[in-house]
Amino acid sequence: MTKQIITPTRSLSKEIEQLLNHQIMMEGKSSASYLSMASWCESQGYEHSSNLLYSHAEEERGHMLKIFRYVNAAGGHALQPEITGIKNAFGSLREVFEDVLKHEIQVTISINELADQSFKAKDFATFNFLQWFVNEQREEEILARRAVEIFDLIGEEGVGLWMIDQELGKLEAYAAKVSGVK
Ligand code: FEO
Repeated sequence: MTKQIITPTRSLSKEIEQLLNHQIMMEGKSSASYLSMASWCESQGYEHSSNLLYSHAEEERGHMLKIFRYVNAAGGHALQPEITGIKNAFGSLREVFEDVLKHEIQVTISINELADQSFKAKDFATFNFLQWFVNEQREEEILARRAVEIFDLIGEEGVGLWMIDQELGKLEAYAAKVSGVK
């Protein structure tokens, strides 16, 4: 019997597809976390922080969809992640932004690992695709670090928290300017 030759239908490996799906989960979790933070800030009267986080939640959903579409276009199957363990209550506004910084550092580590694995696998299309995320993470870390710094610079006493909220609302423009990404 002659051996049947199966022509591969895609170059995306199962391992890279799995890692991309893991990143989809990370971005989906970012979106859900920031939505929860936005809601908490709104309930506490922090209007500008809340607006910043609502728009950030949308941005993260955009990141998730960008990877979704990439996986399917490459012949894989993007999976809607199960998202659990979202924190809904915070001790302070500062805690919210400290959590944002911690979370963004985790996302950067995950993107770097994915870029490293795709390069090692000679999947240069995925490696190139990920460069946008590498730059985006630099900007997002700048934003989150600056947010935490603002608490120390202004101080939380008296009208401090009101001023901090005002300044946090200006952060998106600041991060884009400093990183030179956009
Ligand atoms: Fe898309 Fe901030 O991770």
